[in-house]
Amino acid sequence: MKTYTICVLPGDGVGPEVVAAGVEVLKALPVDWRFIEGEIGYGTYLKCGDPLPAETLEKVSKADATLFGATTTPPNIPNYSSAIIRLRKRFDLFANVRPCRSLPNPISRPGIDLVVVRENTEDLYSGIERLEENGERAVTERIITRKGSLRVLRYAFKLAVQTGKNKVTVVHKANVLRETCGLFRKAALEAAQEFPEIQMEEMLVDTCAMELIRAPEQFQVIVTTNMFGDILSDEASMLVGGLGIASSANIGEGAAVFEPVHGSAPKIAGHNIANPIATILAAKLMLDYLGEQALGKQLEQAVYLAIEHGDVTPDLGGTLSTTQAARKIIDYLGK
Ligand code: NAI
Ligand code: MG
Repeated sequence: MKTYTICVLPGDGVGPEVVAAGVEVLKALPVDWRFIEGEIGYGTYLKCGDPLPAETLEKVSKADATLFGATTTPPNIPNYSSAIIRLRKRFDLFANVRPCRSLPNPISRPGIDLVVVRENTEDLYSGIERLEENGERAVTERIITRKGSLRVLRYAFKLAVQTGKNKVTVVHKANVLRETCGLFRKAALEAAQEFPEIQMEEMLVDTCAMELIRAPEQFQVIVTTNMFGDILSDEASMLVGGLGIASSANIGEGAAVFEPVHGSAPKIAGHNIANPIATILAAKLMLDYLGEQALGKQLEQAVYLAIEHGDVTPDLGGTLSTTQAARKIIDYLGK
């Protein structure tokens, strides 16, 4: 049995509930897990004045991978910045990977098997903003670099090769944003040369938003800049069942953080009704990253069986609690 050290960061709201479910499911697999728990989020800030303490960073550095729940980001505290965004920056987690596959459930559209790869460190989210003219004019700078673009584009092409896909759709708006998107587009043409077996297709972001609704089955791998990817991946997740099932991976050179796409969901927190599937599928992405693809596949199949049988939480039309839904998935493992 392989041994892996996993840093577990439950966070706020439903975070601890869904992460506990994810850890229970992981423990049911034939792996020698060493879990180390760390503190993160608004609760941690209230306790010690920092939502991302140094001890937590230390734990993430030491681990083979990190499983993160969700954190609350309060809007009214000056200079407070989101703990997960800080974590992504600190470990230079440049690729945000969000798979979107049809599920055996009536609320999912059929025929979809795509993944959105989003640049995770640049673009309009770099935080370079200012007010000018006595607050009459606001400016946000959009930073795109050749290096930052190339690494996420290469990641997307490699992912296509590894997962047996033959097409990568590069999404931009280079007809209007001639410099920033123009640079991303040029980097894409360069990266594509290195992967002659993969067809590269270009699509403007507004067209892509429309095509995702009209004919989502046409997409295999979508790769794009940070903000476009943020929006398109939320849109894509709604095609197959929404936030309760949407998982993501944040990949860097030396670290990786796996998380549900959803936030801390304060309204349902504490009621044991949050859907644990988004976190369990994030754990599946973590297994793939660790090189345990066979176990990842097994876990995914167990999730599909639970969905097929309606053994799910209320957001997917079921009646199970978070803990019961996780328990069912454990029962389906190995079936
Ligand atoms: P949210 O993702 O927490 O909730 C959006 C909607 O989805 C709510 O109706 C919620 O009840 C539902 N939902 C979320 N997770 C669910 C689950 N597992 N099962 C069933 N239903 C689920 O987004 P919201 O309400 O905009 O933000 C709440 C807090 O979360 C804010 O403080 C925000 O800053 C933070 N947030 C954190 C993220 C992270 O940690 N990665 C991502 C997004 C928001
Ligand atoms: Mg988002």
